[in-house]
Amino acid sequence: MKLGILASGNGSNFEAIAQAIEDGYLNAQIQVLIYNNPAAKAPLRAANRGVEAVLLNHRKYNSREAFDEQIVRTLRDNDVEWVIMAGWMRLVTPVLIDAFPNRIINIHPSLLPSFKGINAIEQALQAGVKITGCTVHLVCLEVDSGPILIQAAIPVLPGDTPETLHARIQVQEHRILPQAIALAAQRQ
Ligand code: GRF
Repeated sequence: MKLGILASGNGSNFEAIAQAIEDGYLNAQIQVLIYNNPAAKAPLRAANRGVEAVLLNHRKYNSREAFDEQIVRTLRDNDVEWVIMAGWMRLVTPVLIDAFPNRIINIHPSLLPSFKGINAIEQALQAGVKITGCTVHLVCLEVDSGPILIQAAIPVLPGDTPETLHARIQVQEHRILPQAIALAAQRQ
């Protein structure tokens, strides 16, 4: 499986995928990391792993479609077969979705279909749920929708803040994202 990873931030999920490959758990190669935020930490992690990182700053494009066109070009130039959104904080357009039908995977920090969109963890705390979690799913046009591959449930503990809860969610994200990538490949 030739992976292209899209990340906007810290890149711990990128790291989890790279580690799963190194450990021989996931039979894949990371062809390229694309990041959109110049301050993201993900490219530093890519450099440490010998993965090429490409900055595509969405602010430099006139439309979401033009931005996605450049993403698709970069993915194709790098022979990518599967696209992994590992903390990708941009809405996607049909330009990207149609270029990789059923081959785009996203991780979201809630038990979908609850708490879609940004601030999923704050939304869960606000709602007072006692169990939340994370979801890996195939991407379709509607945000945080599409067939679910794997979920993990995590209890909300008394006194949890967005930070403490996110930290526990991330432990599970790092476990289920590589698992879900392997599962998606088997299904095809
Ligand atoms: C993750 O919690 C993911 O669910 C959300 O953004 C966060 C990215 O974390 N979409 P990282 O950049 O992989 O550390």
